[in-house]
Amino acid sequence: MDKFHIVGPTRLVGRVKPSGAKNAALPALAASLLLDGEKLTLHRMPRVRDIRTMMRLLEHLGVGCEDTGGALVLHRDRPNPDHDAPYDMVKTMRASVLVLGPLLARFGHARVSLPGGCAIGVRPIDQHLKGLEALGANVQLTHGYVEATADRLRGARFRFDMPTVTGTENLLLAASLAKGTTVLENCAREPEVVDLGNLLNAMGARISGAGEETIEIEGVDGLGGAEHAIIPDRIEGGTYLIGAALTRGDVTLEQASPADLAPLLDKLAEVGAKVDVDGTDIRVRAEGNLNACDLETLPHPGFPTDLQAQYMTLMTSADGVSMIRETIFENRFQHAPELMRMGADVRVDGGSARILGPRHLTGAAVMATDLRASACLVLAGVAAEGETVVDRIYHLERGYEGMELKLQSLGARVARWVV
Ligand code: EPZ
Repeated sequence: MDKFHIVGPTRLVGRVKPSGAKNAALPALAASLLLDGEKLTLHRMPRVRDIRTMMRLLEHLGVGCEDTGGALVLHRDRPNPDHDAPYDMVKTMRASVLVLGPLLARFGHARVSLPGGCAIGVRPIDQHLKGLEALGANVQLTHGYVEATADRLRGARFRFDMPTVTGTENLLLAASLAKGTTVLENCAREPEVVDLGNLLNAMGARISGAGEETIEIEGVDGLGGAEHAIIPDRIEGGTYLIGAALTRGDVTLEQASPADLAPLLDKLAEVGAKVDVDGTDIRVRAEGNLNACDLETLPHPGFPTDLQAQYMTLMTSADGVSMIRETIFENRFQHAPELMRMGADVRVDGGSARILGPRHLTGAAVMATDLRASACLVLAGVAAEGETVVDRIYHLERGYEGMELKLQSLGARVARWVV
């Protein structure tokens, strides 16, 4: 298992470009199951492990994936009558559940393994299943699998109990080919949901309101091919901007989407960092003391839970006490004890964490537990005094393309130890 070896402290300085958003690329790939003979060309696909996992699943389901270097070209060339997503594939990546809606809508049948447990929370998919049942699907849970059938899905009104990102995306994918109109309420409003809506509309769907609480989908009989560029990754980009503030550096994120990052940029300004937006470039710089500011994670347009861990690292360097309330996932503070190994003063109590700063972090051997926790520890290593070794960086590779290279381009002394 590879590790990152980091020597600090280093100020991050320079320009960096985010890759395409992993969480927009995954539902876009699943949309290829809706194709009817034409091709889907996706640009700015991030070269990360989760994308490769989804491509393997799609190959298994009969979708050909051609990597032309600049883009991924998808076409459904050999139907797989099983329409199944086996446990071995789904267990490595929960987002595999995104094939459920399109398989059901396109073929009237889907057999998808239940994702099982996750490090950051229980993460049930009951809302996905209830939504598909509302569209007329017959859903059975047997032997760890969801078995769903429907002659043809039909439009309906469905209200989510809570905004769910992949739940909203699964229903968008399914309702696109349903008979009649679907109205979804209490939807997730994340930029990745908007990106999927734009892609499906480019394929011939009739979706209005993606990005709002209520989305309307007028079903069509078939979808065609399209060409689409995935939005920039706001979580990857936000990670580097938090790194700029933490290390009292000066980083410009190029070709980003400032509107998608507004919750973070507002918070960085509140903390005392200098934030400048120039078109699609975002510059963050900081020096001296920063203010400790409380945070609550919320569905978009609230502060994203996927930047909570990185923000905690920043708060270890700020003056005073800050409280972080994690409202999305029930077990998303596993990075805290690792930060404490580096000298941070963090007290976790259920869904809240209290951080006392500033604390001078010192390098240590730490262990990554999930994707965003690993990014938080890498940032801590860049800011800490001495050597840090981050173990289990396979978590990081799920969602960060070439992180050590991008950090090196900003001046960080980080190297991959191939073990
Ligand atoms: C998406 O996960 C992202 N993953 C996550 O990013 C992100 O943390 C999360 O949204 C929240 O922003 C992808 O897009 C692939 P949810 P998702 O359904 O869709 C509960 C990363 O680091 N819920 O919006 O699985 C759920 O337990 C990953 O890139 C139900 O109870 O999250 C949670 O408490 C981690 N029943 C809340 O809703 C359901 O059927 C929000 O989860 C669905 C969700």
